[in-house]
Amino acid sequence: MHLKHREFSIPSLFLPLFLLCSSVHGTLATDASLEFLDPTLPPALPSQTPKCSVLVLQQDFTGTVGTSPVTTNYTHPVDCPAPWTRVVLELSLSASGVPVQKDRIAAVWIDGAEILRTSTPFTINHSAFWKVHKDVTRYTALLRRLSGGGGTVSMMLGNSNSKPPGVFTANVSLHFYRGALSAKSINNGHPSVKGLYREPADHVIPISQEKASNGSSFWFQISGNSDISTASVVIPRNTYRAVLEILASYHADDEFWYANPLQTEYLQGGLGETRANGGLRQLYATIDGKFVGGHIPFAVIYPGSINPYFWSPVAAIGAFDMPTYDLEVTPFLGLVVDGQPHEIGLGVKHSQSYWLLTANLHLWVDRWSDAVEAMLVDYRAPPLRVNPQAEWRNQDGSSEIDAEGLLRFVGWVSSSKGNVTTLVRQKVTFKSQVVVQNRGTVRQVEMINKEAMTVGVHRGKNQVVGRVQLFMDAPLQVQTSTVNAAGGAVLRNTRLYHQLEEVLKLNDNMAVSTSMLTDRQDAEGTVLMHDGMPVWGGGSTKSSYKYRDENTCYLRTVDAAGGAVKNDVTSASCAAASAAQAWVCLGHF
Ligand SMILES: *[C@@H]1O[C@H](CO)[C@@H](O)[C@H](O)[C@H]1NC(C)=O
Ligand SMILES: *[C@@H]1O[C@H](CO)[C@@H](O)[C@H](O)[C@H]1NC(C)=O
Ligand SMILES: *[C@@H]1O[C@H](CO)[C@@H](O)[C@H](O)[C@H]1NC(C)=O
Ligand SMILES: *[C@@H]1O[C@H](CO)[C@@H](O)[C@H](O)[C@H]1NC(C)=O
Ligand SMILES: *[C@@H]1O[C@H](CO)[C@@H](O)[C@H](O)[C@H]1NC(C)=O
Repeated sequence: MHLKHREFSIPSLFLPLFLLCSSVHGTLATDASLEFLDPTLPPALPSQTPKCSVLVLQQDFTGTVGTSPVTTNYTHPVDCPAPWTRVVLELSLSASGVPVQKDRIAAVWIDGAEILRTSTPFTINHSAFWKVHKDVTRYTALLRRLSGGGGTVSMMLGNSNSKPPGVFTANVSLHFYRGALSAKSINNGHPSVKGLYREPADHVIPISQEKASNGSSFWFQISGNSDISTASVVIPRNTYRAVLEILASYHADDEFWYANPLQTEYLQGGLGETRANGGLRQLYATIDGKFVGGHIPFAVIYPGSINPYFWSPVAAIGAFDMPTYDLEVTPFLGLVVDGQPHEIGLGVKHSQSYWLLTANLHLWVDRWSDAVEAMLVDYRAPPLRVNPQAEWRNQDGSSEIDAEGLLRFVGWVSSSKGNVTTLVRQKVTFKSQVVVQNRGTVRQVEMINKEAMTVGVHRGKNQVVGRVQLFMDAPLQVQTSTVNAAGGAVLRNTRLYHQLEEVLKLNDNMAVSTSMLTDRQDAEGTVLMHDGMPVWGGGSTKSSYKYRDENTCYLRTVDAAGGAVKNDVTSASCAAASAAQAWVCLGHF
């Protein structure tokens, strides 16, 4: 499954560039191998040495389009038994083949359950290596079974070997840690993980293609708005809690969904969009056809998108460890704990062809009961209120989609833990705006994507057991101007601002904690594109990753320009934060 690349399409006439800042241009070094990186929070670990590390899979991926994932039988060291405090997946990769290796989508599965979706970098004129670390403690149920013997680990990296030829070499390792987390280490890998998973689930059931078929792996391929893929599952009758985790990537006509304007009669086909259906998408799930929740995805910018020089060598937010989307489906347990098979469906509203989806159903079971009693008591799931508006005159104009949504689900589950009611409330505020000016040569894309989610758990009338509140804010701004160059080439100048902010408030047994993550990138640069490939260009990207809770602050700022890291500072104090945030010439525009 390789990414089908398409020009970030903009019709080109002459226009003035908005070069407000000088950016660094030049050809990247051709000799040495370049290390690509994704500056995120290091996983919280008990100590520096794992109890054991297992090299699970080693594989060269050449022409893999249309093939099945590579699968190996897993053998666990006997002296490294469960339980583990932390388990970290390490994917170590290298890419060779000049001049260019396009970005590819890859994934790792345990017994058919996907635990990582990732993209490879877009490399220009050099070989590359990089590592992805992911805290996979939440998949302990899979790892326990795996360590018991008889399990498999699979990996797919969709590399088209026809053009350009190249080899990706991958090592997949698992690191198992025991012992207490050191007091100094940061609380948890990602705040959102902590929020909904607390303790890892007892079962993790893959919602995916049962058999890895050729080319599509275990992924469901979603070809549009009305397409929905389903898997049939039997849920243990003693399940008292359930979270559905969705993994997604977008391809072909929807590779740039976040920059897609709305169609008008003037625009039809004019901007090169396959179907200008706007920049709103919603991932969602169903149980027996009933909508049980959704999320507007975070716009992960693939390494070959907008300007490949921006992402060399620092990956765009989420590109190496794509975000997963959790739905708390505990209120719906009453519909499924009858021991019968039920259909879990996955889809993407407003989508075009195609999305690759899977999900993992995390289930917590009550060992002291054979069956729980449960019931859904309040269900409010109106579709998103979508307000599309577009006005075009020839190639110029603007389009806007506003969307708002409010969901509310309440259900109780009665088990040996008592009769516990779970309330899920989600509020979504979204706006996508695309403005095209100067006879189609200047395009501004702006996205506002905010979500507030509360999961409240109470016993009896008013005894609060716990509450998780997650606020997410993911603004994106892209300004692009294009000039036609000789021989059909196109010169593009782009400025970008992208951010993921998550605030998590946890209220658990009277203890209250708040954590905050701000992952931000600002980039500017120029690229000369010919036949969909970069011929010349440059870019500078400032990344800042800040995590703060009551006890800690972690700040890492990385400045990259001209294909190299110019500055990489990690600080355990946020004192430097304000200076780092004072961008000289980029920022909100
Ligand atoms: C993996 O295990 C299965 C079943 O035990 C066996 O048929 C297969 O040959 C094994 N594969 C390898 C590569 O050892
Ligand atoms: C994979 O591991 C082997 C050692 O087992 C090492 O020689 C090789 O460089 C590694 N490859 C990558 C891409 O990390
Ligand atoms: C593999 O994919 C090709 C092309 O999509 C299809 O024609 C063929 O039937 C598939 N084979 C299997 C075994 O699924
Ligand atoms: C659980 O509590 C709800 C209201 O809080 C109540 O309606 C329901 O009957 C209770 N279920 C059981 C099995 O006691
Ligand atoms: C790659 O290197 C060649 C030779 O140095 C150079 O001519 C070409 O412009 C480079 N390509 C890119 C995309 O930088």
